[in-house]
Amino acid sequence: MSRFSGRVGLVTGAGRGIGHATAVELAKGGAALAINDIDEGRLEEAADELRGHGAEVSTHVGSVMDPAFVATLARDAVARHGRIDLLANNAGGGPPMTPWGEFAKSDFAHFRAIFEMNFFTQAMLLHALLPGMVERGYGKVVCVSSISAVMGQEAGSAYASGKLALHALVSSVSKEVARHGVNINAVILGNPPHFTRTPARQAYLDKLSHIDRVGRLEEFGKAIAFLLSDDASYITGAAVPVDGGTTTPRLNE
Ligand SMILES: NC(=O)c1ccc[n+]([C@@H]2O[C@H](COP(=O)([O-])OP(=O)(O)OC[C@H]3O[C@@H](n4cnc5c(N)ncnc54)[C@H](O)[C@@H]3O)[C@@H](O)[C@H]2O)c1
Repeated sequence: MSRFSGRVGLVTGAGRGIGHATAVELAKGGAALAINDIDEGRLEEAADELRGHGAEVSTHVGSVMDPAFVATLARDAVARHGRIDLLANNAGGGPPMTPWGEFAKSDFAHFRAIFEMNFFTQAMLLHALLPGMVERGYGKVVCVSSISAVMGQEAGSAYASGKLALHALVSSVSKEVARHGVNINAVILGNPPHFTRTPARQAYLDKLSHIDRVGRLEEFGKAIAFLLSDDASYITGAAVPVDGGTTTPRLNE
């Protein structure tokens, strides 16, 4: 029997990147999936690929920034699959047309929106799905954070603050539900490949890791899938680094 047989997962931002890599791991493990993305074409393409791995898949197009959509997403996913056992709270980053910038120089509305994208979106979806998990006595949740949360990031204070708030949410709520069979963890990711980077930025990030390269998408997907699996049953309330050592600097050359 595969490790996610009989389980139903929900992955946000599953059209590409880390969300997509996570959904692939869950599908390969036998999970049924509700997948979300704001980009419909990308989401349908991902759904076809996941069905190719044998998964039963429903697609939910919309923005996790919209509280009404998050409520609909939770309701529709449960209606379609009967329940959600595994939540990969992945979508995050920067909302469209909301530039990152130095705190003192930035528009505070932008600061608020970026914080919201990285914290309230995930908190809202967890809030919607957690009662069902507690009631059934089974749930696994991973909230996707970043090395920015623990290192800080120049011109990224809103992002770093939103991600660090996730750690407090995870460590607090996990204590409330641990006796009900629900595990909640965060992953501190750094750094995945990303198409928006210049070669100079890429080279800098490669060197930050002790492994001298950024991570591969499947390395992040596999780590998140591990925390969503029963193999991680004794891990809860943690913020787990998946960063090639980036957050523990070398002392010697
Ligand atoms: N890329 C990085 O350097 C990095 C580093 C650490 C952590 N992370 C975190 O990993 C997560 C995924 O990032 P990624 O690098 O895979 O991003 P990505 O840009 O490659 O993919 C994100 C996906 O989410 C979708 N999306 C964007 N806004 C959305 C919204 N409002 N609602 C629903 N879907 C939306 C996009 O269409 C896209 O398919 C984020 O939480 C991000 O903060 C990223």
